[in-house]
Amino acid sequence: KKNIQVAIDGPASAGKSTVAKILAKKNGFIYCDTGAMYRALTLAAIENNTNMDSEKDLLTLLNQLVISFNQQVDGQHVFLNDRDVTLLIRDNNVTNSVSKVSAYKSIREEMVLRQQKIAESNSIVMDGRDIGTVVLPNASLKIFLVASVTERAERRFKENISKGIDTDFEALKKEISDRDHYDSTRKNSPLVQAEDAILVDTSGLNIEEVVLKIEKLMETAI
Ligand code: C5P
Repeated sequence: KKNIQVAIDGPASAGKSTVAKILAKKNGFIYCDTGAMYRALTLAAIENNTNMDSEKDLLTLLNQLVISFNQQVDGQHVFLNDRDVTLLIRDNNVTNSVSKVSAYKSIREEMVLRQQKIAESNSIVMDGRDIGTVVLPNASLKIFLVASVTERAERRFKENISKGIDTDFEALKKEISDRDHYDSTRKNSPLVQAEDAILVDTSGLNIEEVVLKIEKLMETAI
């Protein structure tokens, strides 16, 4: 039986993980959140006071870390050496440093190897920035998910309110566009649409509509 690979790339807060999770569940595929892996390394670097200007120190740290996913009743949890870091990796201090950590070549190479290993023996939905271009270049279906910065900031804003977090809308917009800029202009595997990826603009669409759109694309692609 041939394993099916669905690659979903795109800028921050475009809805990649929400959509990827639903698609994986509906199809019985595993889901791999590659951003969570870079976030877990960033969290460990903060906790260990690792010098983030040192690629070598970060790689030494990464080589000591086991980053894994575990499916639980309330969704997928992220583990760093047996410790549940699902919530911690969403902290603002992690979010604001992750792009710096993920820009290093040797860090990316190690992460890509780990991600390819996860994809080896299962049908999978994987989301990130370089899945269609680097991690799974032969994916059955490649989606490039985008939405305007304002729309993405609005979604994050509402999400934060529902969690009881008070955020400044303009600051949120700036954070999102700064991270996009950093991820898109870095030297090593920048965020870019793969030549054979299908562009899906989610502006004005709700989650169900986006899922439906991608499911239609899966039917024809797979
Ligand atoms: O997807 P998420 O926003 O959680 O990703 C956090 C950060 O990790 C991104 O802003 C990017 O810098 C990095 N990342 C990456 N390559 C991936 C996934 C995430 O460089 N495949």
